[in-house]
Amino acid sequence: MQKKIGFLFLAIIFSGLIAAKAEFAQGFLKGTAQSFYQNGGHNSWDSLEKKPQSNWTQFENSKIRFHFDGVFAPWPFPKKSPIAHGEKVGIASDGWRRAFDDIHLIKKLGCNAHRFSVEWTDIEPQEGVFNQEALAFYERYCDALIANGIEPMVTLHHFVHPLWFEKRGGFLPVANVHYFVRYAKKVFERLGGKVRLWCTINEPTVVSACGYILGIHAPGKVLKLYNSGIVLKNLLKAHVDVYKALKKMPGGRNAQIGLVHQAMQFEPYRHKILGLTIVDPIGKQVARGFNFSFAHNAVLGFLKTGVFEYRPSRPLRGIRYRNPAAPKSYDFIGLNFYSKVILGPGPTCYKNQVMTDMQYAIRPETLYDAIKQVATLGKPIYITENGIPDAKDDRREAWIKGYVDSVHQAVRDGFDVRGYFYWSLIDNFEWSMGFDQKFGLYQVHERTKNRTLRKGAYAYRDYFTTAHQNFK
Ligand code: GCO
Repeated sequence: MQKKIGFLFLAIIFSGLIAAKAEFAQGFLKGTAQSFYQNGGHNSWDSLEKKPQSNWTQFENSKIRFHFDGVFAPWPFPKKSPIAHGEKVGIASDGWRRAFDDIHLIKKLGCNAHRFSVEWTDIEPQEGVFNQEALAFYERYCDALIANGIEPMVTLHHFVHPLWFEKRGGFLPVANVHYFVRYAKKVFERLGGKVRLWCTINEPTVVSACGYILGIHAPGKVLKLYNSGIVLKNLLKAHVDVYKALKKMPGGRNAQIGLVHQAMQFEPYRHKILGLTIVDPIGKQVARGFNFSFAHNAVLGFLKTGVFEYRPSRPLRGIRYRNPAAPKSYDFIGLNFYSKVILGPGPTCYKNQVMTDMQYAIRPETLYDAIKQVATLGKPIYITENGIPDAKDDRREAWIKGYVDSVHQAVRDGFDVRGYFYWSLIDNFEWSMGFDQKFGLYQVHERTKNRTLRKGAYAYRDYFTTAHQNFK
């Protein structure tokens, strides 16, 4: 009898272990994500006298009145650096020099894919001058990933572009879009034979909202609602143009090309008073403003129908743009998703929720909802970013288990999710938040830049394994 109970006990533990381990189909991508600028700043290639300058170099050196933490310093108070503690990206996590060593970090996690950015500023530091060393670096980097059984996923624009392009107005004049297409073709010419997965632009809505409304990203413009819409429209046009151009190139038909969309949404705080639910009136207005700025529906609408509509409010001039090629301009949709942000008085979460180090709570179920929503596009989905800023490393494990579970559930429910990329492999420069936000599965030590696997990251290493595969 005792034996039987013991056996039963073991069986229960064993089945529990199996249940805790998500199984994804062969070919599912378990990945890590990063951008080279956030890891290493700008590289100074041997043949260049100085580091190339970008829209972000300019922004980091500027002084602004609105600060990332929402503080506004009116005249006569002095303007401040837009970056927390006045930091600059510098060499960030020493990402360039250690790029090849870092591949082993990815491998140790049992990953079979890695998403990274190709930096336009390093490739075309001056208009029309393409740096062959930079292109060769990326080629060797892709070779090394592939040799280690890791599929590369390239992002062509991750917030940063050359200063000469910014000086021409960046993505504000539609006439500039062709520069981006030319650069994309150069990169594809070199890497197209090796790389299957391509992301054109990272989070167009974040570029437009943070850069032209909130002023917390380059170029630091505040409340330029109309320009924000124009930039978003031009980024979407740039995506479609790049898609068309790359598809026509040798290897283009085999490439899988998509747009990376940040599906961030905001909701007002709901008070519970005497058994009644009361929507916070200020939270409601702020959420409405943010939902408009981050233009989630405008992007989904454009990808679905080819019509882009953006109108802040009735009296203000709206933007309507039609591009019939849009619904056929992506082979997959890249979903960057962290949480649904609650806006209200005080803390942006409810008592029973656990906050990350940023202003959002751990809410894995919201990733499931986001998957469900982008699935209406009818294209394969990659979770191109998801992760937690957690300096104490006491919530990372819960985040990973919760969110990967959501992805697993979505796959089981028949949603075509083909991969999950954790943001980020190592600690990174978090834009206007500087270096305080610790997203890394590996901690980067401030002085030595050495990397250590965080305990909370074991959950990602051990949670699910994928058979390494051969690509191409
Ligand atoms: C973004 C970017 C990343 C961030 C990450 C963490 O969403 O802003 O794609 O560069 O570092 O999302 O916030």
